[in-house]
Amino acid sequence: MNETPDTAISSIEWCDTHVRILDQTFLPARTVYSDIRDVGRMWEAIKSLRVRGAPAIGIAAAYGFYLGIRELPETKFPSFMVEVNRIGDYLISARPTAINLPWAIERLKNTINAHKTDSIQEIKDRVLRVAQTIHEEDKRMCRQIGLHAQELIPAKANILTHCNTGGLATGQYGTALSAIYHAHKAEKNIHVWVNETRPLLQGARLTAWELNKMEIPFHLITDSMGPALMRQGKVDLVIVGTDRVTANGDMANKIGSYMLAVACKHHGIPFYVAAPSSSIDPTIDTGADIPIEERDGKEITTIGQTDIAPAKIPVYNPAFDVTPAELITAYITEKGILRPPYSF
Ligand code: MRU
Repeated sequence: MNETPDTAISSIEWCDTHVRILDQTFLPARTVYSDIRDVGRMWEAIKSLRVRGAPAIGIAAAYGFYLGIRELPETKFPSFMVEVNRIGDYLISARPTAINLPWAIERLKNTINAHKTDSIQEIKDRVLRVAQTIHEEDKRMCRQIGLHAQELIPAKANILTHCNTGGLATGQYGTALSAIYHAHKAEKNIHVWVNETRPLLQGARLTAWELNKMEIPFHLITDSMGPALMRQGKVDLVIVGTDRVTANGDMANKIGSYMLAVACKHHGIPFYVAAPSSSIDPTIDTGADIPIEERDGKEITTIGQTDIAPAKIPVYNPAFDVTPAELITAYITEKGILRPPYSF
């Protein structure tokens, strides 16, 4: 086994009475932890990407939901449920694309409905326990994804990845980055090409930070370099994460994923998507119906406090794109490798 430092990065922690998050907006310059004690702060943390990555958003929302319902004064179930629904909808409104957020809220609401004859206090306590279960299950799923991925990663490989899909984006280990971490741990000779991931630089700021910590060899590249590297034979496979997989096998992920999948098809390179079951949305038929988050144009026209474009210009800033199933070689899930035709 490789002496890889364990990826024990914990971006979210339940601390008895509140949630502690590693605020990802400060990375890599500073490691800042922030204590979140109410649902409003959690909404803001999700909206502004202090906590980000589909599975991490689901976990954070689950704890945020508990923080919200914990304060409710209602003592009768029907009026309590009205407020529960309001808090759930409020959290879901923070970011629309990752299914993990509504998935977590739905699971907690189902728990509440299944125990409606319990006291309100018992229900609140149970919601916290289920939020903690969601957190623990995510860690286990991410580990399994990393282990299953090994049948797809050769003993020597150049792997290209996009955005950040590591311990920061999940409960632990990550999704695509768990595959990479476990390959390195198994002493495979791997090297990673890290797309910087414009505009918010999750690759440069976060994936490079995580790979550095784990001592996994990598080079940071700009988002436009991938196809040229493929043409030169310098990419053996691409692995990305996902925010939502639809019934037909389409999926949404960070803007720029689709262009990688197209380039992989052209060059005959496998394009793999690492997806825990919490990111699969079988209620939507195709990727055309996935809501794509549009973010503030300032994210493109500025870097930090510096303007990099003229003031007041029109900007279009979709945070995600959709890759159709026919460009996806296989999904890496906690249950194993899934190839088309999919039956999610
Ligand atoms: O906008 P972000 O940083 O939340 O986007 C994250 C991604 O696109 C990830 O690839 C995806 O959530 C999978 S994370 C395991």
